[in-house]
Amino acid sequence: MPEEAAHSHFGKRAARYDRSANWVLDAELIGRIRDWAEAGADSSVLDLATGTGALAEAFQGRVRRVVGLDLCTDMTEHSRRPWDELVVGDAEKMPFADGAFDVCVCRQGLQFMDAPKALAEVYRVLKPGGRVVLCHLTAYGEADRETAFLVQRLRNPARRNFFMPEDVPRLLGAAGFEAVETAEYLTVESVNQWIDNGAIGADRMEGIRKAYEGASEEFRRLHCLRFQSGDILDTMKLVLARGRKGSGGKAASL
Ligand SMILES: C[S@@+](CC[C@H](N)C(=O)[O-])C[C@H]1O[C@@H](n2cnc3c(N)ncnc32)[C@H](O)[C@@H]1O
Repeated sequence: MPEEAAHSHFGKRAARYDRSANWVLDAELIGRIRDWAEAGADSSVLDLATGTGALAEAFQGRVRRVVGLDLCTDMTEHSRRPWDELVVGDAEKMPFADGAFDVCVCRQGLQFMDAPKALAEVYRVLKPGGRVVLCHLTAYGEADRETAFLVQRLRNPARRNFFMPEDVPRLLGAAGFEAVETAEYLTVESVNQWIDNGAIGADRMEGIRKAYEGASEEFRRLHCLRFQSGDILDTMKLVLARGRKGSGGKAASL
């Protein structure tokens, strides 16, 4: 079961999660997502695949209500509990009423889910006019996709989806969201830092280092790849996409 694979991976990684990549606690990135969500003081906000709540925390005290949803309690236990309510559950079958939220944010969660199913649920639980903001790692394009996806697969075998930049807004449009906009954010990540996340065995670590060492010139250029002091620095691309639920529209059928 894909949910069990995600649970097992994040169970091993939970204790080190917040320090397992620079983007996790990156205040600039978190601020951008929060600002893009345009949540008001009266908004109810769902942080989908909330993990340790690093993103949910940015809304705490600024909105009426913050709800986190995640299926891995090991992750949520390693948090400062920034939610008004934490719900343990599956994004593909959310235990929320239709129209329960004004805003939904999801950072680095959709790659573990049936993305169209999860986004159909996001659409359902948002109020008419509600806003969704996604933020996900992608390849840069055709030139780096093979190596980027190999690294992502070795890093986390629970991953079900590998995104190109255009996939993130496309998924929102396909789910029925309107006024879809995108932005990108680059994050410099130390391989020595993220490879030591508690969930990657020695054989996969070796595979990851080999993938970087064998990377093409084009991959090296796009990722500003640097080999220094025994570490590898990879500039990774995150795509942000936001959209709005129309006031009367129906979601696209699956
Ligand atoms: C990479 S972490 C992201 C955590 C958080 N959103 C952040 O930005 O730090 C991915 C999270 O997705 C959760 N997850 C994976 N599949 C899920 C599903 N089907 N339903 C709910 N949560 C899920 C995992 O348990 C994990 O906490």
